[in-house]
Amino acid sequence: MKPFYTIIFFSLFSWAGTCFAQIDPWIAPDYANRIKNPIANNAKETEKAKKVYFTVCNVCHGDHGRADGIAALPLRPKPANFTTDEVQNQTDGVLFWKLTNGRGPMAHYDSLTRNQRWQLVNFIRQLGKESKL
Ligand code: HEC
Repeated sequence: MKPFYTIIFFSLFSWAGTCFAQIDPWIAPDYANRIKNPIANNAKETEKAKKVYFTVCNVCHGDHGRADGIAALPLRPKPANFTTDEVQNQTDGVLFWKLTNGRGPMAHYDSLTRNQRWQLVNFIRQLGKESKL
């Protein structure tokens, strides 16, 4: 093989590698399960999350939480789809921990107040319920 083709071959190979590489599942530390949601099932508080969600989160996670926001396509790993059991089966504490700490393209949102972060956790629950209507 000529050197030129060898270079093309290997660059394509490594490009495909980054596209299809298996990314480790994101596991929160065990203690996150024990963080209690102080505003669980509080519809009034959940309502307040919309303003933040539709300013910051929907570009990636999508208007209905289906990971189809305009910025989602090139991201690896993909944004989480909030309507799946995979997300909904996690505890409130874990979702709170993840959006506080972030990973990869998912930023850490510890700049939001604790209350705002809990409101967002409740809103993620609401998106999950709405998807089943
Ligand atoms: C730049 C795109 C982007 C934005 C903006 C973004 N996220 Fe994410 N989010 C991601 C990606 C990508 C992942 C998956 C990260 C991983 O698995 O390593 C993720 C994962 C999550 C998870 C973990 C879900 C799970 O199944 O483990 C939660 C919770 C979450 N995001 C909430 C939010 C909230 C709330 C906001 C707004 C405050 C937000 N995200 C904004 C890209 C984004």
